[in-house]
Amino acid sequence: MKKTKIGILGIGAIGSVIMTGLFKNENLELHHFNRSKKEMVKVQFFDTFYSIPLNIQQDIFIPIKLDWLIICLKEHQFENAKNLFQKLISRKTKIAIIRNGLQLKEPLLPFSKEELILECMINCPTQPGKNQVYQQMGYPIITTAKIDLANDFQQLFKNKDFKFQQVADFKTENWKKLLESASLGAITCLTGETCWIFEDEKIRTLFQKLMEEGIQVAKADGTTIPSDFVNIMLEKIKTYPKEKGTSMLTDRKLGRPIELGAKNGAIVTVGKKYNIETPLNDMVVTILSKTKNI
Ligand SMILES: NC(=O)c1ccc[n+]([C@@H]2O[C@H](COP(=O)([O-])OP(=O)(O)OC[C@H]3O[C@@H](n4cnc5c(N)ncnc54)[C@H](OP(=O)(O)O)[C@@H]3O)[C@@H](O)[C@H]2O)c1
Repeated sequence: MKKTKIGILGIGAIGSVIMTGLFKNENLELHHFNRSKKEMVKVQFFDTFYSIPLNIQQDIFIPIKLDWLIICLKEHQFENAKNLFQKLISRKTKIAIIRNGLQLKEPLLPFSKEELILECMINCPTQPGKNQVYQQMGYPIITTAKIDLANDFQQLFKNKDFKFQQVADFKTENWKKLLESASLGAITCLTGETCWIFEDEKIRTLFQKLMEEGIQVAKADGTTIPSDFVNIMLEKIKTYPKEKGTSMLTDRKLGRPIELGAKNGAIVTVGKKYNIETPLNDMVVTILSKTKNI
């Protein structure tokens, strides 16, 4: 039987988790693409340890006719990956983009037809740990729109730990995640503190105001954010473990670029489109784009 050719572009935290979902499917031929050379994917998930050999290709001389390209890059990494898109995407290649932010399809539109691109939102906190082992701290939940392409994508995964949900209104779900992660990320990243900081009432008020500012923009962008969303989020932050961090805080601590364009910067950009002022998110972007690691 002819194997389905899958390319995974970006084998960092999320790309490695995705590998743990695919490697057991013997009907797949996996091709790995990453900026740096790596020999192995190593992921610790509770008491399961994955160690999966990689064969990273950095230069592609002969085009590979991929059936699927799964992109696990951060928003600011897309620009430098354009030359790879050109080589890896053929007329029939289906594309799954797994990342935070809005309008995920946009950077791929010059290379593919819109109907072949699947936007994916992933919930799966994963951080780099010691000895190049990624620490996966939850079951992967992948949310997509309810479309046939999403069914095709799900079929690739043979790992029962992976959960998929298809939603009627992906835009609203994606905005909800953005609002939460941008507000939480901004506060933890600016203070340099984990979620214990939300014990402080003034910090909770700031979180509320950031959320409300973002919701104005999300609504103008055509979402149906429910009226009790802020209250739900205010209750949710009380349940976070004190030591819970955020990816923005982790990036700042590690001195890596913070995903501002996919978080607070996305709110500012869409706000401008609809003439909605976003002073709090503007301030977050201005400060964090000038901030060094801590
Ligand atoms: N980590 C999480 O917990 C989590 C959870 C939910 C959503 N997300 C989202 O998932 C997306 C991916 O995040 P991540 O945490 O997996 O990021 P990451 O760990 O930084 O991984 C990105 C990978 O892409 C590679 N890369 C960068 N530029 C490239 C290029 N031009 N060509 C080829 N490879 C390139 C990097 O290579 P190097 O090895 O050279 O750095 C790295 O391995 C982000 O949007 C993030 O917000 C992450």
